[in-house]
Amino acid sequence: MTISEKWNDVDLYFNTKLHTSDPVMDSILKANSKADLPAIDVAPNQGKLLYLLAKLKGAKNILEMGTLGGYSSVWLGRALPDDGHLITLEFDSKHAKVAEENVRKAGLENKIEVIVGPALETLPTLKEKGFANFDFIFIDADKANYPQYLKWALELSRPGTVIIGDNVVRNGHVIDSDSEDLHVQGVRQFIDLLSEESRIDSTAIQTVGSKGYDGFVLGIVKN
Ligand code: SAH
Ligand code: DHB
Ligand code: MG
Repeated sequence: MTISEKWNDVDLYFNTKLHTSDPVMDSILKANSKADLPAIDVAPNQGKLLYLLAKLKGAKNILEMGTLGGYSSVWLGRALPDDGHLITLEFDSKHAKVAEENVRKAGLENKIEVIVGPALETLPTLKEKGFANFDFIFIDADKANYPQYLKWALELSRPGTVIIGDNVVRNGHVIDSDSEDLHVQGVRQFIDLLSEESRIDSTAIQTVGSKGYDGFVLGIVKN
C-alpha cells in the first residue's frame, strides 16, 4: 500500500465511523461530477471541520469566496441558525447554477445566496448591499488573488471574525520561493501579508487524505 492509499483508507475509516457524510452531501458530489465540475471540493472531513468551526464560532453571517458546486457552502450553511445567512462568490455561472440546485436539494435556499462574478468585482458591492462584519470567512477561490481576498476579508470583518484560507500547501510547493506557478506565488504573498498584518492571529495546518497533501490557514481577527 502506498502512503497516499493509506491516507485514503484512513479518511474512509474516520469518515465512516464519524458520519462525515450523508445522502444529501453525497448527492451534491454526484451532481457535481455529473455536471463535469472539477473534484476540488473540500474533503468530507474538512467540510465537517468547517461546519464544526462555524458552530463553535456561533456564526450568523458567513462569506465564502469560491463556490464551485456548493459542497463547502452547504456544510457551512448547515451550521447557521434560523436567521443566519451565507454569501458565496463564484466566477463561473455554470458552477453557480449547479451550486444553486445543490443548495435547494439541501433545503438551504433561504440561507445561502450565490453571487456570480469575479470576486474582486463583487466583493466591493457587499458593503453597499449592507453586508459587512461577517463572523466567518472561507477563502477558496483562485489562489493567485488570495492576497487581495485577505485584504477584503479584513475589510469585511470585525474583532473575532474567523478567517480560513484553503489549499495553502499544495504538495509542499508553498516553500518553493522561486516557483513560477501563480497559485504558489499568490499563496506565498497571502502568507507574507498574514506575517506582516497585526490585525490577525493565525496558524497553518498541513493535511493529508483523500484530497492528497495540502493544508489551510486558520486565523482570528484581533480585538
Ligand atoms: N469551496 C468549494 C471549492 C471551490 S473551487 C468547495 O470546497 O466545495 C474554486 C472555485 O473558485 C471554482 O468554482 C472557480 O470557478 C472559482 N473562481 C475562480 N476564480 C474566481 C474569481 N476570480 N472569483 C470568484 N470565483 C472564482
Ligand atoms: C484547486 C482549488 C481548490 O479550491 C482546491 O481545494 C484544490 C485545488 C485548484 O485550483 O487547483
Ligand atoms: Mg479549496
